[in-house]
Amino acid sequence: MNLPTASRLQFTPDLNICRILNGMWQVSGGHGRIDPKAAIQAMFKYMDAGFTTWDLADHYGPAEDLIGEFRRQLTATRGKEALSNLQAFTKWVPRPGKMTKKLVEENINISLKRMDVESLDLMQFHWWEYQDKNYLDALKYMTELQTEGKIKHLALTNFDTEHLKIITEAGIKIVSNQVQFSLVDRRPEVNMIQFCQQHDIKLFTYGTVCGGLLSEKYLGKPEPRGSELATVSLRKYKNMVDGWGGWQLFQELVAILKEIADKHQVSISNVAVRYILDQPSVGGVIVGARLGVSEHIEDNAKVFSLSLDDDDRDRINAVSRQSRDLYQLIGDCGDEYRR
Ligand SMILES: NC(=O)c1ccc[n+]([C@@H]2O[C@H](COP(=O)([O-])OP(=O)(O)OC[C@H]3O[C@@H](n4cnc5c(N)ncnc54)[C@H](OP(=O)(O)O)[C@@H]3O)[C@@H](O)[C@H]2O)c1
Repeated sequence: MNLPTASRLQFTPDLNICRILNGMWQVSGGHGRIDPKAAIQAMFKYMDAGFTTWDLADHYGPAEDLIGEFRRQLTATRGKEALSNLQAFTKWVPRPGKMTKKLVEENINISLKRMDVESLDLMQFHWWEYQDKNYLDALKYMTELQTEGKIKHLALTNFDTEHLKIITEAGIKIVSNQVQFSLVDRRPEVNMIQFCQQHDIKLFTYGTVCGGLLSEKYLGKPEPRGSELATVSLRKYKNMVDGWGGWQLFQELVAILKEIADKHQVSISNVAVRYILDQPSVGGVIVGARLGVSEHIEDNAKVFSLSLDDDDRDRINAVSRQSRDLYQLIGDCGDEYRR
């Protein structure tokens, strides 16, 4: 399979990425048992299909080690040049507290070693407590590490618009912010997108298929109980659905998505991903991959040949208007991590 050129984004001068990123939270436990051998085999499959960009984090179980092993196997079987088409975006999620250059560098070094790279493509920084201003020191030290060549680009995850502004005003160059964004959770539309547009910051979105809830599997189905939701991801987004408007409204949304999907001969997930990919500032949608357990490579490839029309968007927005306002309920992007 070869993805069309529309699947690619020149994200930074040196990073050309696939606009559907493979999410590796799904290897961290709580999403089914991952066999490292089968996971690496699956990674080859994603790469060969054109899904060359990976989203991971220091705390996603073996994710960084899998990237390291995958790089070694790629080199061994296809030569060093094969690495040039692989992009791996990690995160650092430290405990709040005093940040020193030594502490920051030690943690970056761990990711470099695990991923077997000389420089991190993208470091997406997370911070748990805004009252603790040490996040600015951490970012300042990471900027130094960027100058020294250990990090190619600096990014954030789950920062709200207010703090993204504080960081940019401090003169720190941020290329992207990773946030939850889906047809259920549309909070980025309130403030985040506009700020990102003004400051040339891309959004990478997660939760866009709601752990798989936005698919045929849940069309016309009774409300699942907690024990019927097999992954942490499904349980996370079922909670979102409950806050957003509940199962009945969700069924209305899925039914509309199914009609749109049938019209374009694609899947419900395709429509859900395409809608978000088309929003301003969105650089890519991260779709979780249970490596070696399940995959949707062929189906997700169809996103790149799908274009939604005004009528499709109007029908989706008509359902969204009936939902509760998650911005009022939860706050801006990432606030769900800081309550
Ligand atoms: N920064 C953060 O705080 C944060 C938080 C959450 C996630 N993330 C990132 O985002 C990634 C995505 O995670 P997520 O939890 O948001 O999950 P998600 O992408 O909303 O859901 C992933 C699941 O959706 C199902 N799926 C994918 N494509 C499908 C298709 N075409 N048709 C039907 N089902 C499909 C699969 O379920 P089955 O495997 O059951 O088939 C897959 O495991 C994570 O791996 C991580 O990289 C970041």
